[in-house]
Amino acid sequence: MLLDQPRNPIVSCILSSASANGSRQRSALARGILHPTGNARLFRAHIQGQFMDKLIIEGGVPLTGVVHVSGSKNAALPILMGSILLDEPVTYTNVPDLRDIRTTFKLLELLGCPNAFENGQVTVTPGALSPEAPYELVKTMRASVLVLGPLLARLGEARVAMPGGCAIGARPVDLHLSALEKMGARFDLEDGYILGRCRKLNGAHIHFDFPTVGGTENLLMAAALADGETILENAAREPEVVDLARFLIACGARIEGHGTSVIRIQGVPRLGGCTYRIMPDRIEAGTLLAAAGITDGELLLTDCPFEELDAVIAKMRQMGMEIEPTADGVLARRSCALRGVDVTTQPFPGFPTDMQAQIMSLMCLSEGSGVISETIFENRFMHVQELVRMGADIRLSGHTAIIRGVQRLAGAPVMASDLRASASLVLAGLAAKG
Ligand code: EPZ
Repeated sequence: MLLDQPRNPIVSCILSSASANGSRQRSALARGILHPTGNARLFRAHIQGQFMDKLIIEGGVPLTGVVHVSGSKNAALPILMGSILLDEPVTYTNVPDLRDIRTTFKLLELLGCPNAFENGQVTVTPGALSPEAPYELVKTMRASVLVLGPLLARLGEARVAMPGGCAIGARPVDLHLSALEKMGARFDLEDGYILGRCRKLNGAHIHFDFPTVGGTENLLMAAALADGETILENAAREPEVVDLARFLIACGARIEGHGTSVIRIQGVPRLGGCTYRIMPDRIEAGTLLAAAGITDGELLLTDCPFEELDAVIAKMRQMGMEIEPTADGVLARRSCALRGVDVTTQPFPGFPTDMQAQIMSLMCLSEGSGVISETIFENRFMHVQELVRMGADIRLSGHTAIIRGVQRLAGAPVMASDLRASASLVLAGLAAKG
């Protein structure tokens, strides 16, 4: 099976290590495959000066062995942006080595926060801040919008390129802006940039129309240095939001209710440095659990965030997987032929949208059928047609996919549209014959 990024066709391939460019999830799967047994090779192809990744997978090999779960991409991104709030150096450990993380280091450097990254550890030294997050960086990483809250809180101004949409949806930031306006910020849109200004952010009572993860994170950071109390209602409860709150508290912030839908923040005059360990990545862990199931193998995951995976583990157990915490880590294997289940993606603690593509791959080879409803993003079924190219039986009806299990999948050249779709295609490739 050939999986390449949605750009020019591959002309030549250069073999590189499993941790080369491209998403860590694919690397983790490649590492998991390469480590004990398996035949996946991660290629990075150099086309007319454009780098892209290609995974060539010879499936049919049960994955067995031990895989260490890396630090969480979606916790590290907002926490690193939170460095802007501090007036002392801060050290982070268990930081995943990913393209988005390296982009964040470049953005922090540009904003006046020099940093040094080595062996999963980075120290950021906040200095004289600049208010501008340029389009060149923001267009490659939507999460750059998370500098908005910290810059307004520290500088009273921000000039952030509008984050574009992406393969899975329009990804607007209206909820971020309207909430910050309630705190006293004013915004204009000029030449594709969000221009934000405020004399000083004031505490406010904010109710989100939707429990937005990024919106909650931006407002947590903005409120940490605001005057007075901020209440966030209908706030996101994701573990990555909780990790950000814990980080801010370690720097001196006063926050209560994180992990629930009502968060209270008492603004403080300043935030100092600390040493903070990023939480393990629950989506990478969930993807590795799926890899054990789809290949009928057995994996032991170390540093696996078992408690943050309730909804995912419940569904995989319902499908026929055995997933048990042990003294050495979380052990995952198949106890019988997998069965189809019904899944509806929801905000945490519901089934995470970032695991929707991966459990779909698992369901493609299950007995019976299952239904997946995607309620978070408007266009997150881009992987379906690629799975069908490999022999899957999936029918779409609006935001619902009906998956009928088939006996086998066959290798084929497929195109990856986004990070999680890529992971689902790797999973399918691991199980495909050929
Ligand atoms: C975060 O995105 C994650 N990204 C996403 O992971 C994840 O899928 C998503 O949360 C949901 O869990 C990071 O943490 C970097 P949202 P975010 O604001 O913050 C709508 C991955 O693969 N919305 O909760 O952008 C939005 O369009 C990525 O790692 C508005 O309408 O998610 C979407 O339909 C993909 N207006 C829904 O809410 C807004 O102002 C969820 O968005 C904000 C959001």
